[in-house]
Amino acid sequence: MTPQMDNSTPHEPNASDEASVDRRRISRKGLLKAALVASAAPLLVGGGVALARDAASSGNGPLAPTPECDDGDDVTPPQMEGPYFKPNSPRRTSLVTPSTPGVPLTVSGYVFGRACRPISGALLDFWQADTNGSYDMAQFAFRGHQFTGADGSFSLTTIVPGLYPGRTRHIHVKAQAPGGRILTTQLYFPNEPRNNTDALFDPELLMNVRNVGNGRQGSFDFVLDVAQTPNPTATPTEPGSTTWATGTSYRAGDRVTYGGVAYRCLQAHQAHAGWEPPNVPALWERG
Ligand SMILES: [Fe+2]
Repeated sequence: MTPQMDNSTPHEPNASDEASVDRRRISRKGLLKAALVASAAPLLVGGGVALARDAASSGNGPLAPTPECDDGDDVTPPQMEGPYFKPNSPRRTSLVTPSTPGVPLTVSGYVFGRACRPISGALLDFWQADTNGSYDMAQFAFRGHQFTGADGSFSLTTIVPGLYPGRTRHIHVKAQAPGGRILTTQLYFPNEPRNNTDALFDPELLMNVRNVGNGRQGSFDFVLDVAQTPNPTATPTEPGSTTWATGTSYRAGDRVTYGGVAYRCLQAHQAHAGWEPPNVPALWERG
């Protein structure tokens, strides 16, 4: 299948890409922060993507649905395409076979829009170097595109890319919501010595990476510059309800709005940053 990102859309880096350094950046950190806050309170469940991922890997039962986040005003920053992109990569989620040389790596995560709602059917086109730091320009080794699932999730099976002169370790990717503009960017690995000397390296594009067995598991959540309504099926705001605010002591049954969505308090608590109603289903339900 031909990727959506055909040649009708320019792929070249441009000035706006380079100016992206100034973009506001909080979404992914915000998600992780919310998860950390929530993890300190045993009452809370499903506090964030990171928690869900941890729960999945530890086998602790069913996962909460992908949470919404509240600070979707920051998008994943773009990076230059570089010289090794090739259009029309195969559609596949695995770039390797059992005999492929290299350290096994999976990269998984979600694609969100500006309102932090997951985007299904988003195109992700990955390309990377082999374990020796070489790109295959003749064929399509270590190239593949896929589409996010209904929950906005993706998973890529590959190897840790090798290093090549002048760059730190990275994976290239183009991401595109259905009908949206293409985000061209790169994902980075933590604790790489060359991260300190590569001028392109951007800590906002670091994956979370951990060692699992003889391989590694990476995770990364994309935020695409796609306008979204916070909740198209939201319950209309009820007269008399107030806007959720940190520091407020809520009682069970209290009603608030958050992001234009109405919520009802399930148990008494004092609101903290990171406990926004969509993040803490133990404390708030819609309606
Ligand atoms: Fe590269």
